[in-house]
Amino acid sequence: MNLKSVALFGLFCIAGFLSACGGQNSTTDVATAIPTQLSISQALFEEKALSATGQLACASCHTDDRAHADAFGTTLPLGGLSMKAQGFRSSPTLLYLETNRSFRFEGGQAFGGFTWDGRASSRAEQAAGPLLDPSEMANADAAAVAGKVRQLIYFKDFVSVFGLPTSPTDNQIFEKLKEALQTYQQLDPDYLLFNSKFDRYLDGNATLASDELRGLNLFNDENKGNCASCHTSRTGALGERPLFTNFSYAALGLPRNDQIQANLDPSFFDMGLCGPKRTDLMSRTDLCGQFKVPTLRNIELTAPYFHNASVATLEQAVSFYATRDLRPELWYSTLNGQVQKFNDLPVALHSNVNMTRPFGQRPGDVPILSAQDVADLVAFLRTLTDDRTAPSGTPLVKR
Ligand code: HEC
Ligand code: HEC
Repeated sequence: MNLKSVALFGLFCIAGFLSACGGQNSTTDVATAIPTQLSISQALFEEKALSATGQLACASCHTDDRAHADAFGTTLPLGGLSMKAQGFRSSPTLLYLETNRSFRFEGGQAFGGFTWDGRASSRAEQAAGPLLDPSEMANADAAAVAGKVRQLIYFKDFVSVFGLPTSPTDNQIFEKLKEALQTYQQLDPDYLLFNSKFDRYLDGNATLASDELRGLNLFNDENKGNCASCHTSRTGALGERPLFTNFSYAALGLPRNDQIQANLDPSFFDMGLCGPKRTDLMSRTDLCGQFKVPTLRNIELTAPYFHNASVATLEQAVSFYATRDLRPELWYSTLNGQVQKFNDLPVALHSNVNMTRPFGQRPGDVPILSAQDVADLVAFLRTLTDDRTAPSGTPLVKR
């Protein structure tokens, strides 16, 4: 929600900087001056003072107008004490995670959890990651974070609206901060808007153009895009709107992103479920290369694409599915005349890569997805963008 200025305005008024309240007070200004869980938690999400350098907020990588993904081409954002350290994963959108649950196996298939490898069991637990990660907000420990929270001009409001004791310990502050950052993602209506053109189409209030409709059919067709087998597009049994993910995992064999600092070391591989960020499944080499299926809602806004930000545009992301196996030379570098297919995974693990539709073709085959099909799929995916200026839809499809 574009509350930023409103929330901060309110906070300044509360903190006694009455001059900051200005002369243009209207009744809405007065109303927003009352701190709420939403206004405080949003301020925390946007608070650069929570990082060791004072330069990085959660919102720096999860940008408001980018569906809370990052806005940084195929080069990943910098952070850490030097503001030169770089992680090796792209910031995913934070929208539509409300019904995601903690990590588990169902019939041998991995599901759920937060981050690209599911290692955090909730968004509150996840928040500790960036706050303490040396390449992100780089705080030394929970006490260092709590010290920063105590300095905020709205610390007292944080204590009261989130029900902390009047003299909270460092640990109580840190735990409550994590909870508040999750609360923000639950209370800001932008996180579950359900008002895209596709939602209006499901409600019978909008018509898809012919290319969008062709794209939807290709998306659902098991013999064509087969996209819906992972990016669920069906309405649920109770009328729940599709989230365009089933929160499962797959290895897509993406091209290595040479712009990631960690990749300068040829022996370094980010293998998702089997590590190195996640450590409990390291012996499960069959899971190496698998990353969580992300939602495709608002996908138009969240470039770069895939966990390693290896693909810059939505057209290219969809083309990757169409041509990875037909024309691998488009995606992977060539060494001594050999195309280095799946070069972001050690050779011994290449057999983990998904080969089901739309993958699994051979060079020279008649393409399953033509260039026109790719364009139609992209046209369809653009109908999944929410309208942040319009009211939310309901989480259930109207009947
Ligand atoms: C330096 C950039 C950066 C900053 C700052 C940052 N994040 Fe992230 N965020 C990421 C990246 C990268 C990932 C994926 C991490 C992974 O897969 O290991 C991520 C993942 C997440 C996820 C999991 C999403 C999912 O699909 O499971 C949540 C929730 C999240 N961040 C919230 C936050 C919060 C809250 C803060 C502030 C405390 C924050 N982030 C600060 C980059 C950042
Ligand atoms: C086997 C399951 C599966 C199928 C089938 C599938 N996807 Fe995906 N998709 C994934 C996974 C897993 C990721 C994340 C992979 C990664 O980053 O390592 C992903 C990521 C994406 C992304 C990038 C999302 C982001 O936030 O970066 C797009 C776009 C996408 N898929 C579109 C499609 C389209 C279009 C189709 C059909 C042509 C399709 N997918 C078919 C599993 C699948």
